[in-house]
Amino acid sequence: MRIDKMLANLGFGSRKDVKQLLKSGAVEVNEQKVKDASKHVDPNKDVVTINGEEVVYKEFIYLMLNKPQGVISATEDSQHETVLDILEPEDLVFSPFPVGRLDKDTEGLLLLTNDGQLAHRLLSPKKHVPKTYFAVINSEVTEEDIAAFKKGVILDDGYETKPGELKIIKSGLTSDIELTITEGKFHQVKRMFEAVGKRVIYLQRISMGPLQLDETLELGEYRELTEEELESLMEYEVK
Ligand code: URA
Repeated sequence: MRIDKMLANLGFGSRKDVKQLLKSGAVEVNEQKVKDASKHVDPNKDVVTINGEEVVYKEFIYLMLNKPQGVISATEDSQHETVLDILEPEDLVFSPFPVGRLDKDTEGLLLLTNDGQLAHRLLSPKKHVPKTYFAVINSEVTEEDIAAFKKGVILDDGYETKPGELKIIKSGLTSDIELTITEGKFHQVKRMFEAVGKRVIYLQRISMGPLQLDETLELGEYRELTEEELESLMEYEVK
């Protein structure tokens, strides 16, 4: 790959900016100053530095965000803050996008990547990737609800959901539950509870396929996936 392309891809400005940077003598490849923008480098083998600092090349970026309420899971919105507004410029240069959507008032695990193939694999309705949500419900959740969700419930538009696995953590005037579903219909968790006459008053996604929300991430914080998390995602085969 040409050095100017590599550095431009990494966000060091346009090809023209990168040419200037090279001209200034700031760039070295394997400890040799390089001023020629057309020089070829192997990003996996050659050591490229700018002002002595090594630059690590990557094509893809994989970020785990603990989404806060009030932001939209979209790449742009004319009125509201989007999840991309949370990201630092050095991550934005990779043009990541959210893998699926969480409602504006839903918190929790959101994966952002520029790896379209992986996103497609995780979102394809045929793949049935399980997603687990923690929710607080406005009334008592019962064994009947567990049975109804296990069978599938009819949503307001007549759609019958696939089986969902409901676990009651605490039941009472309000209830804490965990629900695992393998689909991603619009407002699905909220509408499943509406189908049994109840209302979700707080919703948080805690897992998606093999990925678990890192609880050390504060709301609005994000980090790159670890090697292990990435490996588990890549190897993940859904039934
Ligand atoms: N189900 C919902 O109702 N909302 C979400 O954000 C995700 C799943």
